[in-house]
Amino acid sequence: MNTLIVYGTKYGCTEKCADMLAKKLEGKTDIQNLKNMKDIDLSQYDSIIVGGSIYIGRIQKEVSGFCTNNIEALKNKKLGLFICGMQEKELQTELNASFPKELLSAAVVKECFGGQFIFKNMNFMDKMVVKVIAKTDKDISNISEAAIDSFAKQMNAALYQVTGNR
Ligand SMILES: Cc1cc2nc3c(=O)[nH]c(=O)nc-3n(C[C@H](O)[C@H](O)[C@H](O)COP(=O)(O)O)c2cc1C
Repeated sequence: MNTLIVYGTKYGCTEKCADMLAKKLEGKTDIQNLKNMKDIDLSQYDSIIVGGSIYIGRIQKEVSGFCTNNIEALKNKKLGLFICGMQEKELQTELNASFPKELLSAAVVKECFGGQFIFKNMNFMDKMVVKVIAKTDKDISNISEAAIDSFAKQMNAALYQVTGNR
């Protein structure tokens, strides 16, 4: 059982979630930041998980680019999709807007993992936007370990169907 997690991140939250998720998955798991993406042969993986964070309602360009460029390969894998974001009420809508429809319907699991604001990491503009929109200047971490756990369980169950053993 081979899994690849690819992700886009600006301040490391999605990377942290990808690492937490990898620890809960069975079999061998590779993790790849799309910013340093090398040529990867996707055919070697039984499952692929794609994750990214939301800025002003949109997922990072490298994440949507990866999905568009690899849509056929992704559709034929056990596919998992996740986002990180802090607009709790918008997360489900943001998840559905972040990935192509074909991938959303092909995915065995789709989930919002929550997110975090860590002010010391943010550039000036991002700090200003968060202060105005989220009306906070305090660090907040809303990463949902329960959501990551549930995602991993569903992914492990789907992989079990592929290999028939654990
Ligand atoms: C400038 C800015 C804009 C953001 N816009 C949104 C948004 O539209 N919707 C949302 O759910 N979260 C939004 N967020 C929250 C981020 O998605 C959240 O901080 C996430 O954990 C960042 O993950 P990353 O460090 O992997 O990039 C925004 C954060 C910043 C700094």
